[in-house]
Amino acid sequence: MTESSRPPLSVQFEESEDQGSNSSLNPTLGDVIAARYDRRDLMKGLLGCAAIAATVSPVALMVAQEARAQGGNTTPSFAFKEVAAGSDEKHYVAEGYDADILIRWGDAVLPGAPAFDPANQSATAQALQFGYNNDFLGFASINGAPGHGLLVVNHEYTNEELMFPKLGRQDQKARFAGMTKELAAIEMMAHGGSVIEVKRENGKWGIVPNSRYARRITAETPMEITGPAAGHTLMRTNADPTGTKVLGMLNNCAGAMTPWGTWLTCEENFNGYFWSKKAGEEGPQGKALKRYGAPGEWYNWGQYVDRFDYAKEPNEVNRFGWVVEIDPFDPNSVPKKRTAMGRFKHEGAGNIVNRDGRFVAYQGDDERFDYVYKFVTDGRVDTANRAANADLLDKGTLYVARYNGDGTGEWLPLVQGQGKLTAENGFPDQATVLVHARLAGDAVGATKMDRPEDIDVNPKTNKVYLMLTNNSRRKADQVDAANPRADNKFGHIIEMIPENGDHAALKFTWNILVRCGDPAIAAVGATFHPNTTRDGWFGMPDNCAVDNAGRLWVSTDGNSPGATGRADGVWAMETEGAARGTSKLFFRCPNGAELCGPYFTPDDETLFVAVQHPGEAEDDAPPGSGTFENPATRWPDFKDGMPPRPSVLAITRRGGGKIGV
Ligand code: FEO
Ligand code: CA
Ligand code: CA
Repeated sequence: MTESSRPPLSVQFEESEDQGSNSSLNPTLGDVIAARYDRRDLMKGLLGCAAIAATVSPVALMVAQEARAQGGNTTPSFAFKEVAAGSDEKHYVAEGYDADILIRWGDAVLPGAPAFDPANQSATAQALQFGYNNDFLGFASINGAPGHGLLVVNHEYTNEELMFPKLGRQDQKARFAGMTKELAAIEMMAHGGSVIEVKRENGKWGIVPNSRYARRITAETPMEITGPAAGHTLMRTNADPTGTKVLGMLNNCAGAMTPWGTWLTCEENFNGYFWSKKAGEEGPQGKALKRYGAPGEWYNWGQYVDRFDYAKEPNEVNRFGWVVEIDPFDPNSVPKKRTAMGRFKHEGAGNIVNRDGRFVAYQGDDERFDYVYKFVTDGRVDTANRAANADLLDKGTLYVARYNGDGTGEWLPLVQGQGKLTAENGFPDQATVLVHARLAGDAVGATKMDRPEDIDVNPKTNKVYLMLTNNSRRKADQVDAANPRADNKFGHIIEMIPENGDHAALKFTWNILVRCGDPAIAAVGATFHPNTTRDGWFGMPDNCAVDNAGRLWVSTDGNSPGATGRADGVWAMETEGAARGTSKLFFRCPNGAELCGPYFTPDDETLFVAVQHPGEAEDDAPPGSGTFENPATRWPDFKDGMPPRPSVLAITRRGGGKIGV
C-alpha cells in the first residue's frame, strides 16, 4: 500500500500511517550511533547543505572507491537492456521481453462469474471475479512443472474512487457520504485473495478455465485461529465465543510460499477497517489500540457490519493483523491465522528451511519506527510428508531485531516471563505477548526502523535482504546506524548475515546494501554504485525477489514524477563483488501504480508481477484527479468508460530462456 494511497491526508497527520505510533523509549541514538560509519560524519555535512548540488554524491564516489579497492569486475551480471526511467500511461519491459496481462480486476476466477461490467458491479459478481489491488504473488508448481501451477494472489485493499462511477474519494473528510451498504459489500468481496491455475503453452501463459483449484478468499471467508492466542479472552466475540473462528482476512499485503507448498498471506493495515475512532479512544484496550492505530476509520464498513464497529465488538480487531496460511491445492481447506507468528502490520514472511530443519520466517512490520521480526518453529520441516507440516507454524519462538551500531545485531525473544514480558508489565500470558507484539517489542528494546517492508532470504548465500521503504518523520536526533538518514524520503536496503549461517541464531551482522534516491543529488546521500545509470536508481524499495541464481530484484512503491521523476517498477540489483550496489531498471509501471509481488517460476523463465492501483493521482494533483472518470491512466484496457484495472502480468523472454541472463 502506498503510504499516501489509502489513508486520507487528513488522517495521515493525525495517526499511525504517517507519524508512526511507536512512542516507546527504545533507543534511536546513544549506543546505536553509527560508530563504525565514517560516512555518517560526511552525511551530517552533506545534509547540512542548504543547496542541493547536482553532482555525483561524495558518498557514491566513496562506494566506487571501495569497489575499486576490492578489485574485480564491475560489469553487472544482469544481461538486459535497461528500460528508460520515466512515467506515462503504459508499462514497459526490457527489450526482448514480453510483459503480458494474465488477469485483471473483474476477470472470472470461479465458474458463473459474469463478464466485468464496471457500471453494474455487485458483491455477488465480485465474489466470483478477480479482486482488487493485487499484491503478493506466489507460484506453486503442479507435479514440479515450471510452466504449470497455481498462482496465488493477495488482494490488499480497494480504491473506491477508481472502482465506482461518480463516487470520488470516500473518507472521513468526505464523511463517507457517497458510500452505501452495497458498495461496502463489493469492497469486502474485492479484498482477500485468489487462487488461479495457470499454464504456459507455446510460450504464453494463460488461465486454465474451470480449474478445480480456483478459489476466491474474501473478507467473509471462514477461517480458523490457531496457535497460542487461539481461544484467548482477547480473541472472543459475540459471534465467536470460542475465540477460534473468524471471517475473512484484510489488507493482505505481501506474503510467501512455504517449502511445503502453502501460501502465507499477511495482513497489514487491518486497523483501517475498524470503526469508530471515538469508541476506540474510550475503550478498555486504549494503549494497545493506539499503538496499532485502531480503529482507523479508513473504511466505513462498521456502519453496516457490526463486527467492524469497535463499540459493538471490541475484540474483533484483535483477530486481524496475522499471517494466514492457506493450502492452495485444497479449495475447501480452511485458512488458518497463525498467531504464534505475532500480530502487527505484516508485510511479508520471507522464509528458509534452516540447516537444522527448522522453518524460519523473517517479517517486517510496515510502519514508521516499527520493527523487524523473525519466527523460528520448534519442529522441523518434513520434506517427505507434506501433511506433517500442517501445524508446524503453531509452535515456535517469535523474535524482534535490535541493530547495534557496530554492525552486529541481536534477536530478542518475545517470550512471556522472560525479561520485561511479565504480568506486571501487562503481559500475563504468551497470547497477550503475541496479540500485542508491538508492545512486547517496545518492552524488550527493539530498534525502530524506517518502515520495514519485504525481507527475503538468499538461499545461495544465506544473506537476508530487508527493504526499508522510507520514513520522512525521522528527525536528525533520531538517526542511528541502521536508519542513518533523517527525513528518509527514499529508503534503503539492509543486508543481514546470520551468525555462522544459522538462521535460528540469536546474533547476526548487518550492513547497508544501498541508500536509495537520486545519486546525482549530493544532499540525498544515495549510495548506488556509480555504474548505475540515470535510469537505474530508485527510491522506496518495497517488495523483492531472489531468483534461482541468487540475484536480487527489487520492486518499489512511491516513485512518481513528483517524488523521483519516475514511475515505480522492478530493478535488478547487484549484491556481490565489485558491481555490488549497481541497479538496472527492468520493468516500469503505468501512472499511479506501485509494483508488487515479483515472483519467479522455478526455472527463472517467467517473472510474475502485480501492478497495483494504476491510475491513482499524485498527492498534489487537482481535485477530481485519480477517479473513475479521470484516472491517471486507463491501463490496461485503454477504453472509454473502463476504469484502470489492477492486473497481474507474466514477463517472459521472447524465444524463451531465463530472465536477465
Ligand atoms: Fe502494503 Fe507495506 O505495503
Ligand atoms: Ca509499501
Ligand atoms: Ca508492500
